[in-house]
Amino acid sequence: MISYVDYGCATGFNTAQMFGNVKRILESTRVLGGEGGAEHLQVLLVDLPSNNWNQVASIFFKPGAVADSDLILPVMVPRSFYAGECAPPGTLHIGTSCDAAQWLSHAPPVSYRDSFSYKDAGEAAEEAFKRQFENDFDLFLRLRAREFAVNGLLFVVMPGSLGSSNVGEGFFTAFNNAAQAMCHEGHIDSSLLADCMFPIYLPTEDELEHIAHRSASWEVLQRGGVALSQLWDEYKSTGDAVTYAGTLRKVFFAIAGPLLQSRLALSDEKTTELFDRGEALIRQNPSKYMWRNIQVAVLLRKVRQRRSMDNSRRSIDA
Ligand SMILES: C[S@@+](CC[C@H](N)C(=O)[O-])C[C@H]1O[C@@H](n2cnc3c(N)ncnc32)[C@H](O)[C@@H]1O
Repeated sequence: MISYVDYGCATGFNTAQMFGNVKRILESTRVLGGEGGAEHLQVLLVDLPSNNWNQVASIFFKPGAVADSDLILPVMVPRSFYAGECAPPGTLHIGTSCDAAQWLSHAPPVSYRDSFSYKDAGEAAEEAFKRQFENDFDLFLRLRAREFAVNGLLFVVMPGSLGSSNVGEGFFTAFNNAAQAMCHEGHIDSSLLADCMFPIYLPTEDELEHIAHRSASWEVLQRGGVALSQLWDEYKSTGDAVTYAGTLRKVFFAIAGPLLQSRLALSDEKTTELFDRGEALIRQNPSKYMWRNIQVAVLLRKVRQRRSMDNSRRSIDA
């Protein structure tokens, strides 16, 4: 049996496409279904217990869907990928995690009134978030190392930073400005806004590689970073600020809507107002809110345990 896993599958929509590609390659190379090849392909989908698992089941396993086959064994794992192992030791072979591991286990205790992005909150805040990510991503990789068989492959991609730019530039600022304005008008509680730091970190590819290398169980086969600017390019060629602002609103709402609503104790109406205002700011002045989708990635291979470079972790690695 071959086991594929995705960490942070959300609805399963994008994972289904990646899984479809993996399955096709395994079949065409006869690693799956060929003579001497594996008979079954197990698929594990990991996300938080609060995820919409009915939707995942429908996208993946309903009749005619990508994993609707007697040869595919479904496993849904409603658990934080920081909480512990998600599979028995040494049983996984191919893994992906897209747009998920930038979420920290929790935001460090940083309070800043003027922004919900640590990137705006000064050096101490940046340092605190960096340390938190180092600890969380290190834990993530050590847990995955226990689950994976030697030579298993894990591809991790997430929004991040490239040079002096980061993916939060532009649209983060617009919705932050909208929140500040609503706070000044008394619609958002200022102490809630001060404590509302977004629990994500935007690493560079260097940081990903460094943490993976330190973990002693993974070899970095490839690393990369890219800045995708299709949305901005389209706005530049069409001048259609309405579509540009509307799309950024949708992206930001998907990432931040429910979190901001609960952390800022907003009614549905005030949440809509916050996003309406952010969208209006972008529409009025798109150049101020230029957005590029910066993604960083590492492709890792599980190796036999090297001697850990960090003595403090030895007891856990053992
Ligand atoms: C932006 S979505 C990405 C979904 C999908 N991978 C994709 O590329 O479309 C991030 C997902 O990561 C999940 N996530 C965040 N932190 C997590 C954690 N600690 N454990 C498991 N899943 C987590 C969220 O619940 C969410 O479904």
